Amino acid sequence: AFPKHVRLVEVGPRDGLQNEPEPISTTTKLELIERLGAAGISYIEAASFVSPKWVPQMADHQQVMKNIARLDGVTYAALTPNLKGLEGALECGVEEVAVFGAASEAFSQKNINCSVAESLARFEPVLERANEAGVQVRGYVSCVLGCPYEGEIAPAKVAEVSKALYDMGCYEVSLGDTIGTGTPLKAKRMIEAVSRDVPMDKLAAHFHDTYGQALANLYAVMEEGIAVVDSSVAGLGGCPYAKGASGNVASEDVVYLLDGLGIETGIDLNALAATGTWITQAIGRPNRSKVGVALAAQ
Ligand code: HMG
Ligand code: MG
Repeated sequence: AFPKHVRLVEVGPRDGLQNEPEPISTTTKLELIERLGAAGISYIEAASFVSPKWVPQMADHQQVMKNIARLDGVTYAALTPNLKGLEGALECGVEEVAVFGAASEAFSQKNINCSVAESLARFEPVLERANEAGVQVRGYVSCVLGCPYEGEIAPAKVAEVSKALYDMGCYEVSLGDTIGTGTPLKAKRMIEAVSRDVPMDKLAAHFHDTYGQALANLYAVMEEGIAVVDSSVAGLGGCPYAKGASGNVASEDVVYLLDGLGIETGIDLNALAATGTWITQAIGRPNRSKVGVALAAQ
């Protein structure tokens, strides 16, 4: 059965912008974050404390994290792959952080320069330190429905890495279809496998829409009980270490689907769509939310 309420995790300011080749001003990023909060999004991944050599677009993470005009009831989070990232994020008053691993060895090497086992060992001290600071940690698993380097990924491998993150103390594990190759039946089988090791209410779906399957995949996994969905306004984005990967499923499209299913989100679709129109114009990108485009034409 479908959940009654779904929480959206808006990853546009991070996943959506990290791959943009032209510099985007800190002011534009801050305005995006503020507009998303005003539209009723309660969780925003605002920045990424990674190496600026690896991801130049996130180099202003400190400026972003420090200067958000924070709204009550909104969580502003950041990616922190290691202790250096975490310390930087804590200095800026981050409320939550996320570590990111993968179900594929090759992707782990390309993305974070270490094996899956090494990444898990690196995350341990991050979780310990975050715990001391009273900051919750979310865990990502990439390549849950396919890898750009290894192809098919076994659901058992996804379950194994998810369980390791959960056992380590991640309060939620977000399952990333990094390259958007998943289809609904496959997505459902993967969720079934993972939920044997990690409770369903501790799992989130993070689907990219490269092959146009993300909404269908979400429908399938929400039917299984998934109630946290990662998405990006206007479908912005792509992973710098997954060639050809396009954006996340568009937040507007997810909210429209959920509204139609009678599932609560607390989000104002029109305000969200207006934010999508604004940011795509501000950075000169096409709006990849069909709902956003349709509403803007009215
Ligand atoms: P490394 O080179 O193995 O680490 O990078 P290192 O510890 O040897 O450090 C090398 C240099 O990086 C040093 O600087 C460090 O100070 C610096 P140097 O001495 O050469 O001047 N450094 C840092 N700088 C800033 N912040 C840090 C940091 N750590 C080290 N936190 C590292 C390891 C993970 C840092 C690197 O590989 C990296 O930054 N990778 C970026 C990965 C990334 O951001 N990928 C995109 C996000 S993941 C994603 O999009 C998938 C997701 O959306 C889910 C899905 O869709 O599947 C989450
Ligand atoms: Mg992603």
